[in-house]
Amino acid sequence: MCGIVGYVGEKNAQDFLVSGLKRLEYRGYDSAGIVTLGADGEATLVRAKGKISNLEEKLAGAKRNDTIGIGHTRWATHGEPSERNAHPHQAGPIYLVHNGIIENYKELKKALKDFDFKSETDSEVLAALIESFYGEGKYPLANAVVQALKLVKGTYGIAVVSVLKPDEIVVARSGSPLVIGIGHDETLIASDASALLGHTKQAIYLNDGEVATVTEKSVEIKTLNAEPVSAKVEEIETNLAAIQKGGYEHFLLKEIMEQPDSLTETLRGRMNLEDGVVHLGGPGLSEAELRKIKHLVIVGCGTAYHAGLLAGYYIEKFTPEITVEAVIASEYRYRQAYIPEDSVALIVSQSGETADTLACLREIKKQGVKTIGIVNAIGSTIAREVDGGTYVHVGPEISVASTKAFTSQVIAMVMFGLTIAQAKGVKSGILKPYVSEIARMPEEIRKVLDEVRGEVEKIAGKYTKYEHGIYLGRDVAYPTAMEGALKLKEISYVDANAYAFGELKHGPLALIDDRFFEMALLPDGELYDKAVSNVQEVLARGGHIIAATNVDKFDLPVETVVKITTDIELFAPILMNLVSQLFAYYMTIAKGYDVDQPRNLAKSVTVE
Ligand code: G6P
Repeated sequence: MCGIVGYVGEKNAQDFLVSGLKRLEYRGYDSAGIVTLGADGEATLVRAKGKISNLEEKLAGAKRNDTIGIGHTRWATHGEPSERNAHPHQAGPIYLVHNGIIENYKELKKALKDFDFKSETDSEVLAALIESFYGEGKYPLANAVVQALKLVKGTYGIAVVSVLKPDEIVVARSGSPLVIGIGHDETLIASDASALLGHTKQAIYLNDGEVATVTEKSVEIKTLNAEPVSAKVEEIETNLAAIQKGGYEHFLLKEIMEQPDSLTETLRGRMNLEDGVVHLGGPGLSEAELRKIKHLVIVGCGTAYHAGLLAGYYIEKFTPEITVEAVIASEYRYRQAYIPEDSVALIVSQSGETADTLACLREIKKQGVKTIGIVNAIGSTIAREVDGGTYVHVGPEISVASTKAFTSQVIAMVMFGLTIAQAKGVKSGILKPYVSEIARMPEEIRKVLDEVRGEVEKIAGKYTKYEHGIYLGRDVAYPTAMEGALKLKEISYVDANAYAFGELKHGPLALIDDRFFEMALLPDGELYDKAVSNVQEVLARGGHIIAATNVDKFDLPVETVVKITTDIELFAPILMNLVSQLFAYYMTIAKGYDVDQPRNLAKSVTVE
């Protein structure tokens, strides 16, 4: 979603702002802009609709040697994507960039009736409000910002500069991340630490309710109530290589192919194969607390929600007397659901910043329920607000469509389930097969990716003629099918939905015709024969089935078979999901769409 960058130092600000915005491109955006300030008080504002390359073209005619500035990539919420609505927004001497949503912007706008608004955005209202308290530079910029923010309802990460004081940037956050990078004779601002890599590894993560005045050599942080905050400088853990394509044409393919290694990182130090025991320190629950758990609520959005659903199926299989409910955060936050006693909530989020997931976390905490984060982004808001947690450690996931995070989220949650089962005294004979398969998964993922990649590429090219995809599975293959359908629709724009095989007769079977293909996930196991009957029903109606299966002697007369050779049984659906991931990727390539930045979507959804 929207991205913020800022620079104050001795080097060319435009250079950093543009390169920083490019690093944030993956978050999803539809327009971009930067403003830099000259020592003479002259501001150079350049904004463009569309890609950052459009902004760069415009900048070619507006090159400056200014050493302070702020920049933004916008993902439209209020007002269409256009140059006029792009940030930075100007109000008199002030320029502002904003992530988040000002919910009461209409009332505020009414009160600012003398201001000549040029855009339809809520953000410009905030710029105007700050200006109204600035008194043409009579008061410090930070004071004006604080006064304005006290009137604001909503979420924000902002960076503000004034032509009257071209040596400082004021930043503030509430619900939208902001990082301050500490360099040599320069201070950098970003909404995501990846924009700072290559410049500095020292960073201060601003907290909600804090406002900072940043100059080339200083950072002064206060709360909105003017209490001074002593800044904690932390080391950024990501490295530059992790956010580059590493020889792959797209981040998505890199991230799919990276799964053997990213899952290895998730497992590192967390299991003892000899005794078949899982050790997770992060959740911070004692054996007695683990033993008492009777109910798990798993909260997430999009892929994280699917990961929760799938993990829930597994956890219920091996943990006695436990129920698991995976819920969609945007729904759950308003459901006023009663969470039974002896529950623990798992808060699942790759970015750790998703607005709905964060809101659920806060609601659940109010009920006094223990919250455990299953998060990737280190130091993110969710990671900091949960009571305990397990980082999945998959490294930066840049492509909007989530792949490696899914695999590791599922396994991390299953491992958490295993720690509960261990504490509850479940026999090691029941748990060991899970532990041993988990340990073997990275290598099996590597083998399956090698085995199926070329084949899936060929198949995907043939299936571009279909307008719709139906993904089908039973039991653990059902949430996996949901994830496969999501991958396809989000990047290839092919309408795709998932159904539990058993639901076919209750409606979806009516759809089957030549506009549809069906992706059937058919893991070997107890329910295989039942799924086969369902496949027959589709075949009898002229379905165009692709079967992804690990069944040795698979002989159904389906249109296409993708065979997986593995001795993994319990987690075979996760291996089948690799087929779905590659299928979506190659389908998108065949259709010629933007794989890493699909239209209308954002990587990190920081607004409701
Ligand atoms: C967006 C992303 C998805 C992701 C979802 C939840 O929709 O495009 O890939 O699954 O948000 O994000 P989170 O960061 O909370 O896992």
